[in-house]
Amino acid sequence: MSTPLPRKLFVTTALPYANGAFHIGHIMEYIQADIWVRFQRMQGNEVHFVGADDAHGTPIMIAAEKAGITPQEFVANVAAGRQQYLDGFHISFDNWHSTESPENTELSQSIYLRLKAAGLIVTRTVERFYDPVKGMFLADRNVKGECPKCGAKDQYGDNCEVCGAAYEPTELKNPYSALTGATPVMRPAEQYFFKLSDPRCVAFLQDWVNTPGRLQPEMVNKVSEWLGNNGQDLADWDISRDAPYFGIPIPDAPGKYFYVWLDAPVGYLASLKNYCGKKGLDYEALLHDPATEQIHFIGKDIVSFHLLFWPAMLKFSDHPVIDKLKVNVHGHLTVNGEKMSKSRGTGISPLRYLDIGMNPEWLRYYIATKLNAKVEDVDFSGEDFIARVNSDLIGKYVNIASRSAGFIAKKFDGKVVTDWATASDSFLSGLRSAAPEIQSLFDHREFGKALRAVMEQADHVNAYVDANKPWELAKDPDKSAQLHEVCSRLLEAFRILTIYLKPVLPELALQVEALLNVPPLRWTDVDVPLPHGHRVNAYSHLMTRVEGKMLEALFEGPELGGGADSTTQPSSRPSPSQGEGGNGGAIEALAPEIKIDDFAKIDLRIAKIVNCELVDGSDKLLRLTLDVGEGKTRNVFSGIKSSYKPEDLIGKLTVMVANLAPRKMKFGVSEGMVLAASAADEKTDPGIYVLNPWPGAKPGMRVR
Ligand code: MSP
Ligand code: ZN
Repeated sequence: MSTPLPRKLFVTTALPYANGAFHIGHIMEYIQADIWVRFQRMQGNEVHFVGADDAHGTPIMIAAEKAGITPQEFVANVAAGRQQYLDGFHISFDNWHSTESPENTELSQSIYLRLKAAGLIVTRTVERFYDPVKGMFLADRNVKGECPKCGAKDQYGDNCEVCGAAYEPTELKNPYSALTGATPVMRPAEQYFFKLSDPRCVAFLQDWVNTPGRLQPEMVNKVSEWLGNNGQDLADWDISRDAPYFGIPIPDAPGKYFYVWLDAPVGYLASLKNYCGKKGLDYEALLHDPATEQIHFIGKDIVSFHLLFWPAMLKFSDHPVIDKLKVNVHGHLTVNGEKMSKSRGTGISPLRYLDIGMNPEWLRYYIATKLNAKVEDVDFSGEDFIARVNSDLIGKYVNIASRSAGFIAKKFDGKVVTDWATASDSFLSGLRSAAPEIQSLFDHREFGKALRAVMEQADHVNAYVDANKPWELAKDPDKSAQLHEVCSRLLEAFRILTIYLKPVLPELALQVEALLNVPPLRWTDVDVPLPHGHRVNAYSHLMTRVEGKMLEALFEGPELGGGADSTTQPSSRPSPSQGEGGNGGAIEALAPEIKIDDFAKIDLRIAKIVNCELVDGSDKLLRLTLDVGEGKTRNVFSGIKSSYKPEDLIGKLTVMVANLAPRKMKFGVSEGMVLAASAADEKTDPGIYVLNPWPGAKPGMRVR
C-alpha cells in the first residue's frame, strides 16, 4: 500500500437516536464499521473507534414525558441497553458516550461561538406556530394534523409516518397543538441561522468535496448538485429551537437551544475526548497530528448533515479535523426485499436473533458478503443467508479444519510437519500471494469482493483435499507420513484463510488461535508458517450450520420483535376488558405494554431452594438460600411466610429474578427475588403461590 504505516484512524458510526433500542439496520452499520476497524487493527494501525447516543431533540423529550421520567433518565435507560447488542455482535467500540454530556456541551458551544465570531450566525424573525393555551412556541413534533400529501390523520409537524413525506408544520391540514389540542396561531419568533449560503461556505464546500479520497464518487456528484447554481439553492440552516427543548442552551440566548443536528455530530468529538480522558491519551495532539484521519460511517439518509453542515461547521470554527474528514456512506438494509418501516415493524430483531441461538458471526459474514464501497441497499434474504453460511462459510472454510486437525491430534501427537518432502504446495503459495489483493479490497470496503477472493482460495484448498483424501490415507498405515504432510499443509492453509477472515469472524478466529496454539493472528502472519514440530490442540467443533427453522423463528410474529419497531413509546392499546376472568371476578389491570427488549432486561433463572428458615423478628419473611448454578449460593428474603413452612420449600425448584440489584434490608442483604403469584385483593384469595418449574429444569437455566 502507498499509505505510510501505521495510520492513525479516528473512526465513528452515526450516533443513533436514544429513543429506542437498536434495530437491525444499526447493527448492519456497526458490522460494516467494525470489520473495517478490525482489519485496520490487524495491520498494526492505531485505531480509535467511538460511538455515542444522540440524546437530544423533541421526540426523546416527548417519549420521556409519556414514560413519566426526565429525558436524562430516559436516555440513560436506553444507553444501559446498548452493550448487550454490541457484545452480542462483537462490535468493538473503544468508547460509547452521549451527546448529553459535559464534553459535548462545551465543544458545541465553543464551535458555535467561533462560527458566530466568523460572522456566520444570523438571527431572523420567522413565523412559527404558537400554542395560545400553553403560551409557547410549538416545536415541529408538538404540532399535529393531517398529512398534506396523503391526508393521514394525527401526523407530526415534520413528516408523515404513513407516506413518509417531509414537510413544514405550517403545511399540515387542520393543525392542532399536541400539548393542549388548541389550534395554533402564527406568531413571529426570533430564530438563529447558520449562513450556509454565505459565499465563503459555498466556495469552501466546492473545494472540499472534490478533494480526492474524501468521498465516494456518487456522493461527490450529489453534493455538487446541491452546490450547483453557485450555491444559490442552498438555504440557511435554522439551528435554534425554543424552550421547552431537550438540548444544549445557545450561549447568550435565553430560552433557545441548539437544534439536535447541530450538537449531534459534535458528539463524535465529545466521545473521542471522553475516551482520551479515560485512557490518558492526548486529545489535542491526536486532533492536530497530520497523520490522523477522521472517518465516519453513515447511512444514505443523513448525507446532507455530514457533507454540508458538518464540514462547514468544522471549517469555519477553525477545527483541526476538517482536513482529516472522510465520510463513507452505505445504503440501507432491506429485509426480504422490503424496506424496514418503524410503523409496520418489519425487520429482524437483533436480540431475538441472539436469543434463539443464531451465531452472530453468521450475520457478520452474510452482511459482509453483500457490502461494497457503493451507496447500495443490501437485502437480507433468509434463503440466501442459509446458502452463504452453510455452503461457503461452513462448507468451504470450516470443513478444512474438521478434515485435517483431528488427524493431527489423534495420530501425530498434535504436531505438524512443515519440512515437506514433496513440492506440491503451489496452492499454499497461491494462497499467500492473494494477500495484497484481499488486503486492498478490505481497505477499500469492498468486503463482498474480499470474501469472494477468500472463497476462491478456499476452493483451491478443497480441490487439494479432494485430490489427496486424508480420510482414505488414514486407513492405510503405510501412508502415515503422507497423511501427516497433507493434514499439516491443510492446517497451514486454514491458518492463512483464518487471517483473511478474522476481521469478519473475530470469535471464530479466537477459537482457531486456541486450536493452533498461536498468539493473536496479525496480517503479516500470512507469511509466517507454523514452525516444524509445532504442537496444536485437540480439534473441537468450530461452528454449526444454520437451520431453516431458526429463520422461521426469526421472522415469526413481528409483535415479539424488538427490531425495527422498538421505539419505547407506550402503546395506546387498551388493556383486555376486565370482568369475566377465570376466577369469576375482576383481574388486576394489565401493566402498560412492553417490547421484547424490555422483557429481555429481566434475567429470570431456575433456582434450587437449598435451605429455608424463619427470620427472627419478622412475621412476613422467610430467608431462602438459593442455588442458581453459579458455584455459590444466594441469600434472598421473601414475603411468603404466611403460605409456606420452611420445610415445605427446601429442595424445591423455583424461578428468581437473578439480575435485580442487591437490596439491603433490616435482616441482611437480599440478592434477588423469588417469583410468586397472588390476587390483587387479599380478600379474594389470601394465598401466595411460589412458582415451580416443570420437572427437568436445572438450577441456572434462563427462563425466557
Ligand atoms: N441520530 C442520527 C444520526 C446522528 S450522527 C451525528 C440518526 N440516527 S438513527 O438512529 O436514525 O440512524 C443511525 C444510523 O443508522 C444512520 O447512519 C442510519 O443511516 C442507519 N440506519 C437506519 N436504518 C438503516 C437501515 N435500514 N440499514 C442500514 N442503516 C440504517 O440518523
Ligand atoms: Zn402522508
